[in-house]
Amino acid sequence: MPDEPIARTGYDQLADAYAAQVASKPHNAFYDRPALLALLPAVAHRHVLEAGCGSGVYTEWLVNHGATVLALDVSPKMVAHAQARLQDRATIREADLSQPLDFLPAAAFDLIVSALVLDYVRDWDRLFSDFFRLLRVPGHLVFSVGHPSAEFYEQHPDGNYFEIEAVEATFDWPAFGVHVRIPYYRRPLSAMLDPLLGAGFRLERLVEPRPTAEFQIEDPQNYTKLLRQPGFICFRACKDAAQPAHPADRPCRCAQDRAFFDECFPDLRLLSRRGGG
Ligand SMILES: C[S@@+](CC[C@H](N)C(=O)[O-])C[C@H]1O[C@@H](n2cnc3c(N)ncnc32)[C@H](O)[C@@H]1O
Repeated sequence: MPDEPIARTGYDQLADAYAAQVASKPHNAFYDRPALLALLPAVAHRHVLEAGCGSGVYTEWLVNHGATVLALDVSPKMVAHAQARLQDRATIREADLSQPLDFLPAAAFDLIVSALVLDYVRDWDRLFSDFFRLLRVPGHLVFSVGHPSAEFYEQHPDGNYFEIEAVEATFDWPAFGVHVRIPYYRRPLSAMLDPLLGAGFRLERLVEPRPTAEFQIEDPQNYTKLLRQPGFICFRACKDAAQPAHPADRPCRCAQDRAFFDECFPDLRLLSRRGGG
């Protein structure tokens, strides 16, 4: 049974204030974006699916760097902001990532980017197998979410770390007259990696970002906190061509078997030759 889009109402309420701030809000501009953009492969002339575009800041970056972008978001107000920002430079549509993405053809994209969105989707098994189907070979999935440690120990320590739990975040932005509670799912690290690897992806990078120097200028208190306590976590995963089995994947006959090590680790053989072994 597919999930419900638990965050649509909240993000509709938040959309105007979010769009006004996201270009320079420290947690986005000087923490999430530098880390996630650094994980992207070259995007020029690539087909990119942006899963959860918000008001379109990443969409604009991708288009400005030569990508052809289809951007999806569940909030009609966020979609309107992104369309106003991008005009006809990207295709931007309302869609719910908690529903099957079967309206998109297989192997249509080189890259899927999703920044701070997947916390709102419960079933990552279904979502990541959809993402895997949508990517060509080689293809990349790059995404950021709340850090599992901070989400449990700092935000929601009353639950059970090992469970996927429905929780809430409060967005209190008095300057914009905004006080909005948005539901999301907190999950352990294993519940992030298992569906990723289970879908067939190979994990290439896992980054626990540090805030940039600009963050310190804008918000010294949270800068100091983020230097010792993570807020977000970023992943870069690859859909590869099927790999021939590595000899090390075969049952080991004997750990002391010299031929086995030579076969698995040719460099080791060179090393031992140099050493006269
Ligand atoms: C924190 S914002 C991030 C937006 C954008 N990626 C950015 O970095 O500026 C989260 C976004 O996820 C979208 N979202 C939440 N649940 C979603 C769902 N089920 N399907 C698609 N988008 C969703 C929200 O509407 C919102 O725009």
